[in-house]
Amino acid sequence: MSSRFILLGLFVPLAFLLYTQSTFVKMTNVVCHSYNKSWAVFHYCRLKAYSRNKTSLNINATFLHPARNVSLGFALLKRANGYKPFLYNITIDACLFLRKRHNPVIKMFYNVIMDVSTLNHSCPYVGLQVVSDFHKISLPLPVPSGDYLVCLDFIFDGRTQFFVNIYARLVEDLL
Ligand SMILES: *[C@@H]1O[C@H](CO)[C@@H](O)[C@H](O)[C@H]1NC(C)=O
Ligand SMILES: *[C@@H]1O[C@H](CO)[C@@H](O)[C@H](O)[C@H]1NC(C)=O
Ligand SMILES: *[C@@H]1O[C@H](CO)[C@@H](O)[C@H](O)[C@H]1NC(C)=O
Ligand SMILES: *[C@@H]1O[C@H](CO)[C@@H](O)[C@H](O)[C@H]1NC(C)=O
Ligand SMILES: *[C@@H]1O[C@H](CO)[C@@H](O)[C@H](O)[C@H]1NC(C)=O
Ligand SMILES: *[C@@H]1O[C@H](CO)[C@@H](O)[C@H](O)[C@H]1NC(C)=O
Repeated sequence: MSSRFILLGLFVPLAFLLYTQSTFVKMTNVVCHSYNKSWAVFHYCRLKAYSRNKTSLNINATFLHPARNVSLGFALLKRANGYKPFLYNITIDACLFLRKRHNPVIKMFYNVIMDVSTLNHSCPYVGLQVVSDFHKISLPLPVPSGDYLVCLDFIFDGRTQFFVNIYARLVEDLL
């Protein structure tokens, strides 16, 4: 391993620690939409308010058929005269990832979602899927203050079946 990678390996967790403590993230809205209701149906998709500055994400959906070929599109947008692409727009083979866990960004995301959802296993996915009370948000990298939109596209067999869009406000609080 080159020293550059070792450095990066040290820097990222450090930045992560610093910024999770000094940055304040609040989810402000969530939108779930199924394009194909014969495959995915949402029963519930809402934020619950904890306090003035904290909300939790709650999703309850059913996959009516087994999803064996799942890709996840992950795009981050930042508001500036409308939402503009920011840093990430990637698509990964979720089934492969869940076996190998090789993408650091998605890995972070997965570690976060692991404890709070029924998605914490490998493919296939079928039946009731629940994300309950997700509120421990941590950031993999320093991110400036602003309004953000996380777009998650769930692609089964090469076609987007549904999306989950999460809006969040981020405030840097560097003393
Ligand atoms: C919608 O879901 C059904 C049931 O799984 C599937 O057979 C069909 O191919 C899907 N349609 C699209 C456009 O993906
Ligand atoms: C999910 O939503 C359905 C329909 O509203 C409900 O019957 C079910 O109890 C919910 N399940 C969980 C685990 O929240
Ligand atoms: C959240 O709000 C409470 C009071 O509403 C405040 O005491 C607390 O410091 C706030 N937390 C953050 C991280 O800003
Ligand atoms: C992400 O990239 C794909 C392919 O380039 C594009 O179709 C999609 O609109 C982009 N998503 C966002 C939210 O910008
Ligand atoms: C998935 O989460 C459930 C409930 O939190 C837990 O019981 C189960 O052991 C987890 N599975 C894996 C593979 O981590
Ligand atoms: C998943 O489906 C897409 C579109 O049908 C196909 O191109 C791809 O090879 C499939 N992947 C796997 C691992 O089967």
